[in-house]
Amino acid sequence: EKGGFRSFMDKEIDEQPQAVADTLLGRTDAAGALVLDELRIDEEALKRVSKIVLVACGTASYAGMVAKYAIEHWTRIPCEVELAHEFRYRDPVVDDRTLVVSISQSGETMDTLMAVKHARELGAMTIAICNTHGSTIPRESDAVLYTHAGPEIAVASTKAFLAQITAVYVLGLYLAQLRGGTYADEAQAVMKELHEVPAKIRTVLDAMGRVREIARFMADSPAVLFLGRHVGYPVAMEGALKLKELAYIHAEGFAAGELKHGPIALVEPGQPVFVVVPSPSTEHGLHGKVVSNIQEIRARGARTLVIAEEGDESVVPFADEIISVPTVPTLLAPLLTVVPLQVFACELASAKGLDVDQPRNLAKSVTVE
Ligand code: M6R
Repeated sequence: EKGGFRSFMDKEIDEQPQAVADTLLGRTDAAGALVLDELRIDEEALKRVSKIVLVACGTASYAGMVAKYAIEHWTRIPCEVELAHEFRYRDPVVDDRTLVVSISQSGETMDTLMAVKHARELGAMTIAICNTHGSTIPRESDAVLYTHAGPEIAVASTKAFLAQITAVYVLGLYLAQLRGGTYADEAQAVMKELHEVPAKIRTVLDAMGRVREIARFMADSPAVLFLGRHVGYPVAMEGALKLKELAYIHAEGFAAGELKHGPIALVEPGQPVFVVVPSPSTEHGLHGKVVSNIQEIRARGARTLVIAEEGDESVVPFADEIISVPTVPTLLAPLLTVVPLQVFACELASAKGLDVDQPRNLAKSVTVE
């Protein structure tokens, strides 16, 4: 059933264009407007939402972190993201105008389920983003928006992550559309761009030869660092998590802006550092700031592995390796930039002879708190 792939994880990485396309399917009408009748939720209540809280664990929480950047930008509704187990055991400010969005591949993660139950008790409206029909979290929520990634067998999440970002974006864009006016116009424009993403993911997948070579070459690395900024920050966290889970290598993801507040002390000659570079078109000059970070770590001997938009010449002088991804609007970039990091972790772990589908000590769904 691995369809010719050496592992389920390899297969699931390859299925990502389809996972995104299927998650978009049927969610717009002929005119390009978002239609989410499936939510069966009171639209007026949705329009009254004054705060959104995204709750999830692990990789799903990184989809939530990505979504915060996008949803606040598109809707101007304040948006928080919190690990479900932390949210549950403090005293969160939640009321009947709060929308709590849970994200879970399995729909059975106990920490996330408890957070959803807690939110409902506090009077919040709850929407589940979930990949598994009939699972517990959607049943315990007011509404559900399914990701259509298909079954994910490998313990490490890949295609579910891309589908989660896609689904939570669809939800955010739907909220923007409900606000009307220029918000609605932008929502439709972004949906058009999203529909072009699956083909671009395929372009990334087709160009992974060098990333695989680098991974095999780096099988003995004791530690790898990952830097990103804006939506590239959760991508860096996800790249680090994949490497920990699959290859048992110490890996950490940082917000690039934090570098000089501590983490740069870790950089010594030969230290591999992945850097997720924002598009040169990103607002507020973020691109230039990240390029300076690459320069700074390179000056201290880091081996820089740079993920950048195709044609971005500015990284060339400071990159030991450049991994190019096609051009997309900044907020959609995580759907492309995370792919080389998944491939890297999977390939490196395979080179070490490890079982990438069943890493040690981990279960596919964590059904205890
Ligand atoms: O089934 P869920 O999406 O609720 O699972 C959440 C996490 O346990 C999961 O993403 C975990 O971090 C994966 N092992 C990541 O690869």
